[in-house]
Amino acid sequence: MVTLGIESSCDETGVALYCSERGLLAHALHSQIDMHRAYGGVVPELASRDHIRRAIPLIRQVCADAGIDLPSIHYIAYTQGPGLAGALLVGASVAKGLALALNKPALGVHHLEGHLLSPLLSQDAPTFPFVALLVSGGHTMLLDVAALGQYTLLGESIDDAAGEAFDKTAKLLGLPYPGGPELARMAVNGNAAAYDLPRPLLKGMGKRMATADKENRFNFSFAGLKTAVLTHVRRLQAEGNLEAEKPHLAASFEQAVVEVLVRKSLAALDEVSRRTLVVAGGVGANLRLRAQLNEACAKVGARVHYPELHLCTDNGAMIALAGNLRLQAGLLDTELGFNARPRGALDSLVGVPKPSQTA
Ligand code: KG4
Ligand code: ZN
Repeated sequence: MVTLGIESSCDETGVALYCSERGLLAHALHSQIDMHRAYGGVVPELASRDHIRRAIPLIRQVCADAGIDLPSIHYIAYTQGPGLAGALLVGASVAKGLALALNKPALGVHHLEGHLLSPLLSQDAPTFPFVALLVSGGHTMLLDVAALGQYTLLGESIDDAAGEAFDKTAKLLGLPYPGGPELARMAVNGNAAAYDLPRPLLKGMGKRMATADKENRFNFSFAGLKTAVLTHVRRLQAEGNLEAEKPHLAASFEQAVVEVLVRKSLAALDEVSRRTLVVAGGVGANLRLRAQLNEACAKVGARVHYPELHLCTDNGAMIALAGNLRLQAGLLDTELGFNARPRGALDSLVGVPKPSQTA
């Protein structure tokens, strides 16, 4: 069974072909980074127009790469949300149009479920159940994943997502969009212990904690951390030391975020008695995070799985895979209306019904 996946939720047009029997057949990606860089961030209208330009050529490209013609595709999966409304509508329109023309079903996929399942595309794929740390530009979540479609939210960001904090802090340091990877590059030459930045919501991670702290046990808050960096930036600027200190500030910021993510992930594994951690989303590409998670998980005898580096950020492969797995599990969504959902929460996903329920 071959599924075509189309991702268009933000600033990347991703297309892929995934086969139930043979795995990932082909995938192609067009990043809009160069186009948005001049504006310092994603311009939604420009993003939508670019998805329109790229989608069909990329679909042709993956078909050619995989040696498959369009009528041989069995299903079309597209990102339904969350994301930018106009950008989502491009992917939904292309998917529905193709589905009508080819007389094949189209399936809307939750973008975060795509990220969550993306480590299943790697050589060393995890098996259910596991705890998932989802760290993207728009979301930071800890989830208990019992099986496909069975997700329990343990905690999430109450303000900025981890990727958003990276991007905003990078901007404070004068780095171009997208800031996360740029900041990580700058931090390589910095001293992570140079600045004692806050570790938000880590207070109370120990055994004896106040009830108020317990409620936030698996929640995240990164907005204050960014403000702490701003305070240092202003002071260093006034002192004329900012340029020399930037790598140390970047490394100290990165270390603070990583420490919070690692401590909470380990506590979540303990809480739900799982031995497997899955990390997904753009920030999952961060090498300091990977190194410290590997070390912490090894210490407690847990396994940690990541998507391949190039599949950490948005891509069509994760959408084709998520669609394919849901279809195999018997969940079909073949309605004809446009149903892009810019703000759908992952825990609003319906569980996968048994095949008998969809017959
Ligand atoms: O998952 P993703 O591609 O998009 C969303 O669904 O939001 O994640 C993009 C986010 C951006 O905030 C980007 O700065 C961040 O992931 N990111 C990184 C790294 N690579 C991407 N953050 C830290 N270190 C990196 N190496
Ligand atoms: Zn994403």
